[in-house]
Amino acid sequence: MKHPPVHYHDYLKLDQLLSSQSRRSEEFNDPAHDEMLFIIVHQVFELWFKQIRFEIDSIVEVFSKAPVPDAGLAMANHRLGRIIAILKLFFGQIDVLETMTPLDFLEFRDYLYPASGFQSFQFRCVEISLGLKREDRLQFLQSSFDTHLQQEQQELLKDVISKPSVLSLVERWLERTPFVETKDFHFWKLYEEAVRQMLENDRQVIQKNPRLSEDDKAKSLKMMQALEMGFNALLDEKKYAELKATGHFRLSHKALRSALMIQLYRDEPIMQGPFQLISRLLDVDEVMTQWRYRHALLAHRMLGGKIGTGGSSGSQYLKDAADKHKIFTDFFNLSSYLIPRSRVPALPDSIKKMMNFSSSF
Ligand code: HEM
Repeated sequence: MKHPPVHYHDYLKLDQLLSSQSRRSEEFNDPAHDEMLFIIVHQVFELWFKQIRFEIDSIVEVFSKAPVPDAGLAMANHRLGRIIAILKLFFGQIDVLETMTPLDFLEFRDYLYPASGFQSFQFRCVEISLGLKREDRLQFLQSSFDTHLQQEQQELLKDVISKPSVLSLVERWLERTPFVETKDFHFWKLYEEAVRQMLENDRQVIQKNPRLSEDDKAKSLKMMQALEMGFNALLDEKKYAELKATGHFRLSHKALRSALMIQLYRDEPIMQGPFQLISRLLDVDEVMTQWRYRHALLAHRMLGGKIGTGGSSGSQYLKDAADKHKIFTDFFNLSSYLIPRSRVPALPDSIKKMMNFSSSF
């Protein structure tokens, strides 16, 4: 053997790990049985946050290169898949924690005060390095989310904030997508006709629907107007910039147009890797949001209408955060402008050829 042998116990540093669960209720001579479960579940979450940060850092590293190597894109897709698998585990962990009843929780809740998930440095790192910006947080947290952390962690977080996020790197990568603007392919004109027709059809469906009241019709038509405004912006960079300034879009005009092309031409071999990437980023956001809702329900079940130990409105704050703290919202919203395959403008042969892999096996 090349290396000295190591014992399982030492390799996993189990002495340190297994001596890190001390119940505060016991410390104060008032032992609460379920506090052990509460501590272990939180620690397991923090371990998984560590693994997720490790994966995100490797994705950031790959996307910091320009161009992103093909193998790097495949690796990022694989690791995003791992992050999604980990996030899905979180629901099972909540199931375990919910074997603790609200009454059991009350036996030791006072000993926690004012400790709170607000103080999870790693959770903030995950949100920030994926791309959640301070200005996109709920008002309640915009100015203060970092002040909940320990002083030393606040300094470390500044470093995380200053680094490019997955969202910003993917944006730059999308901006470099070839084939989007080419002389011999008038994609945007053909595409515009198809979308305008689709929107007009939808408008007719609303207007002719006998089940809708005039009020409902007006509401739906107003939504259609907003949709059309977004679509007009997609076609016109100046309008896009105006809407982006109001927070309607996060990605640049160029990046969003590329993302749309990737979605529409995903069947072309060269688009498959990029399509996978967009789909996985959507999955990450979707599962994170599901976890946020589940956590809000857990808090409601445990606390009812009580405020959180961190001073928020409790479950209401968590519900609002689930809606507001999505990151890849532009990818979700892009679906409004997808058209049926049959209406997607055919690619000219010259471009189709470039989108194929040259080797066949
Ligand atoms: C009895 C179980 C739990 C209750 C009642 C609960 C309650 C809350 C509440 C009310 C908040 C809002 C902040 C505050 O005012 O304190 C919060 C935030 C948070 N909790 Fe929990 N929680 C529980 C379990 C967990 C678990 C198992 C985790 C896993 C790590 C967790 C992670 C977090 C995180 C990361 C935040 C910050 C969320 C954000 O700002 O978006 N919580 N929790």
